[in-house]
Amino acid sequence: MAKLDVNIPDLTLPDGNKIPMIGYGTGTAWYKTDASSPKDKALIDAAKTAIKVGYHHLDGAEVYNTEEELGEAIKESKHPRDKLFVTTKVITHIDDIPAAIDRSLKKLGLDHVDLYLIHAPFFAKGDKHALQQKWADMEQVAASGKAKSIGVSNFGKKDLDAILETAKVRPAINQIEFHPYLQHGDLLAYHKSKDIKVAAYAPLTPVTKAKGGPLDGYLEQLAKKYGVNPGEILLRWCTEQDVVAITTSSKEQRMSDMLRIFTFNLTPKEVEEISTKGNSHHFRAFWNHIFDDNDRT
Ligand SMILES: NC(=O)c1ccc[n+]([C@@H]2O[C@H](COP(=O)([O-])OP(=O)(O)OC[C@H]3O[C@@H](n4cnc5c(N)ncnc54)[C@H](OP(=O)(O)O)[C@@H]3O)[C@@H](O)[C@H]2O)c1
Repeated sequence: MAKLDVNIPDLTLPDGNKIPMIGYGTGTAWYKTDASSPKDKALIDAAKTAIKVGYHHLDGAEVYNTEEELGEAIKESKHPRDKLFVTTKVITHIDDIPAAIDRSLKKLGLDHVDLYLIHAPFFAKGDKHALQQKWADMEQVAASGKAKSIGVSNFGKKDLDAILETAKVRPAINQIEFHPYLQHGDLLAYHKSKDIKVAAYAPLTPVTKAKGGPLDGYLEQLAKKYGVNPGEILLRWCTEQDVVAITTSSKEQRMSDMLRIFTFNLTPKEVEEISTKGNSHHFRAFWNHIFDDNDRT
């Protein structure tokens, strides 16, 4: 397959480091429930293909039980380490973050990650001191050089406010479920006001788990206009708003097609129209046991 020749732009994080605007995920579809199950060769091959196709931002987490596969793919790809941006997250061993990062690095076969995230704030059950303490541990990880940038995931305003009260290093980014059917009210504006960047996971939800919603027709229309697929319109809708898109695929053609998002722009009116139509519907794909059915925050 011919390689699409696109330049993937970076987003500059508040600490000055640069994160590529699209990331290849090794969770959800790749998630292994059993940590001791054998390595998933399909994931190693897919991640190697993703790197070859042009994805140099790779998203992992200890809870996915796929860090070894990601590490193997990185090694086998022979891609220069300094040209890759590798993220992992802590939650399973949140009790001991210093040990958790060491365990993750060992599985990844790396001496540092580019971004280390607290996977979710829910362990703290609203206790702000618990969040502040864990954030201080994250700052230690950054100081040790084992993570170039540190951030959070699935944090709401209250959680962020809590850690900002005592943070010496502000979270560089918050990775959240983000798509037109879950825009979290004014959460993007809040992040801008605090100089925290946003990454979107499950950005394709309106064409996957929530297909059949009010955006279907408009996404088709825009896809036709730009000669792409409706999913690519959703990814572009993220990047137009300076939101990093974290997606995944098992298919080389789809991986390559998705990079076409860097070959066209949506107009501001189209971005707004997607947001408005999307806001008329609510769908949350993850963490439904934590949030009420109608909670759009
Ligand atoms: N921080 C968190 O709590 C959190 C939570 C969830 C995910 N994540 C991260 O985000 C990454 C991406 O999450 P996600 O998989 O939910 O993202 P997504 O980009 O919304 O969905 C990707 C999935 O959609 C499928 N797909 C793509 N286009 C499709 C189409 N037109 N019709 C049907 N299926 C289609 C792909 O399957 P094919 O193989 O068929 O292409 C792939 O499995 C994860 O791997 C993980 O790294 C983080």
